[in-house]
Amino acid sequence: MKVRIGLLGLGTVGIGVYQIIQNHQIQLQQQVGCAVEVSKVLVRDVKKKREVEIPEDILTIDVNDIINNPNIDIVVEVLGGIHPTSEYVKQALKNKKHVVTANKDLIAQFGQELLKIAKDNQCDLFYEASVAGGIPIIRSLVDGLASDKITKMLGIVNGTTNYILTKMTNEGTSYHDAVEQAKALGFAEADPSADVEGFDAARKMVILSSLAFSMNIELSDVYTAGITNISKEDIEYAKQLGYTIKLLGLTTRRHGEVDVSVQPTLVPNHHPLATVENEYNAVYIYGKAVGETMFYGPGAGGLPTATSIVSDVVSVIKNMRLGVNGQTITHQHNKRTIKTKDQIFSKYFMRINVKDEVGVFSKIANVFLENELSFETILQKPNLNDRGAEIIIITHQVSLQNFTNSLKAINQLPEVIGVQSSYRVE
Ligand SMILES: NC(=O)c1ccc[n+]([C@@H]2O[C@H](COP(=O)([O-])OP(=O)(O)OC[C@H]3O[C@@H](n4cnc5c(N)ncnc54)[C@H](OP(=O)(O)O)[C@@H]3O)[C@@H](O)[C@H]2O)c1
Repeated sequence: MKVRIGLLGLGTVGIGVYQIIQNHQIQLQQQVGCAVEVSKVLVRDVKKKREVEIPEDILTIDVNDIINNPNIDIVVEVLGGIHPTSEYVKQALKNKKHVVTANKDLIAQFGQELLKIAKDNQCDLFYEASVAGGIPIIRSLVDGLASDKITKMLGIVNGTTNYILTKMTNEGTSYHDAVEQAKALGFAEADPSADVEGFDAARKMVILSSLAFSMNIELSDVYTAGITNISKEDIEYAKQLGYTIKLLGLTTRRHGEVDVSVQPTLVPNHHPLATVENEYNAVYIYGKAVGETMFYGPGAGGLPTATSIVSDVVSVIKNMRLGVNGQTITHQHNKRTIKTKDQIFSKYFMRINVKDEVGVFSKIANVFLENELSFETILQKPNLNDRGAEIIIITHQVSLQNFTNSLKAINQLPEVIGVQSSYRVE
């Protein structure tokens, strides 16, 4: 028996998949009991020079050579994007081909629909590489923690923004220079907006929270804020208070209600997530039974991502040999119930510029009192020329509703020049 793979795409990840399957043939055969071969590879240009030696006759520009080819057993999708990728994946599944994908955009948007098509056709659809590249986080949620009840997950799931924030924090690099460095190293795209605005992390949090809570979380449920407004001052004050600013994906469940967000968050320096630096990813999970666990590793890169893909391929082949493909549980047990602003509680950091005059502080304290908000820490910095004095506050736990009301009321005080920034505090 030989299992034949059709590879859609031969870019960073596609090359990694091809190399691992070629170079680890003996280990693969030991694991699955048969030969595994990449039989066809879809590219746009067969003559393009690539960083891998590959026989030209297996390259094709016609997707039908893979998705409508009766000899192909498994389609590995590493094209990226939604169109025409979703159409290709649907067609492959309808032709009873198992699919392994690294595509978070596709899974976040069409995951449920594709999983249903897969199940109807007794096919597997696996997507381990779509979140946190080389970290086996999806398998850990689906299998490892299956018997536990997850209450909260915190994730650094975007390597680009973690790299930028690390440079800003450790080396005092400006946001602009850190973005340019990330681009030069290949960690950021020419247009980095999907990363720096938090959209990439939001898609990954849709995938993780849907699995963790067995609930149909949609992208529109994720409150998303990126890192573009984080200033050197924010990072400096956070440091003085014992925190590191990270772009965190956060999801919690309480009494069946869920909230999901991606936002810059002050993480205490003693928390393991504060030590996750550069392009690395980590997901921190709170389970009722297991307590706290952290999964850490490379979030991207050709070979780490390809490793996750090939382990999905191994799972598909093991299922093929046992005749149990298409058994993934697709039914989501819990009704989608998203918390309202008065059900979401957190501590917050705020940096306020005020006129340097008597009585300002008592005005702010009054706003806090009216909104049931109290101070945990206060720093006051002397006159900053035209920007007045600066007050940095960390609050106690407060509802998002009351915090939002306070921000609005503080901004309206005549003594206040403006709230410069505000962030969640973990
Ligand atoms: N890069 C990572 O570290 C990473 C990590 C986790 C997940 N992923 C996911 O993995 C997927 C692939 O990422 P990548 O970095 O490998 O992308 P990439 O380097 O841009 O490669 C994409 C490949 O697909 C081919 N392609 C795209 N559209 C095509 C079409 N319509 N017809 C034929 N070929 C087409 C491209 O052809 P050409 O070579 O001709 O341009 C290229 O070979 C994405 O979904 C991404 O989100 C990537």
